[in-house]
Amino acid sequence: MKRPAPYETLTLDPRLVRALRSDHAGEAGAVEIYRGMLACTRNPQLRRFAETHLRTEQQHLAFFDSWLSPAGRSHALPLWRLAGWLLGAVSALGGARMAFQTVRAVESFVDDHYAAQLQLLAPATELIVLADTIASFREDELEHRDDAALYPGNFSAAQGHPDCEQFLPGSRPSRKFG
Ligand SMILES: [Fe+2]
Ligand SMILES: [Fe+2]
Repeated sequence: MKRPAPYETLTLDPRLVRALRSDHAGEAGAVEIYRGMLACTRNPQLRRFAETHLRTEQQHLAFFDSWLSPAGRSHALPLWRLAGWLLGAVSALGGARMAFQTVRAVESFVDDHYAAQLQLLAPATELIVLADTIASFREDELEHRDDAALYPGNFSAAQGHPDCEQFLPGSRPSRKFG
């Protein structure tokens, strides 16, 4: 028999629900950042980086999916996803250096966000599983930030990619409209 989701059995403090909602939206955006990068780069280094991180972000998102009821999730989720995808795509179009710097900046912000949330969770001993999991996610995000700092290369990641080349400066539109 399937185990009930935490939101079906626990009554959570509204402040915590708000925090989890922002975690969920942020992780949904993070998944899309890497999807956007992968749609716009052929750079093997950046692709490996994005594929590895994408898998971790999908695990983070699945966890928050299980903690938040569908009604408790952000109404702006489609916007978060779109913003994430565009951020990933545009940064990849700007070259690998820009993509890695973007990830570094985003993950530093996420680190601060999770650190503040762990303080909120500290007194709630009944939520130790949640606190431990968020602490391990924070470690993952720090690893992502540090991974990004390891790649100093600057390549034109979008060159040769038919979906993205049309957006590069100086390129001609690939389709005619009207
Ligand atoms: Fe994450
Ligand atoms: Fe991350």
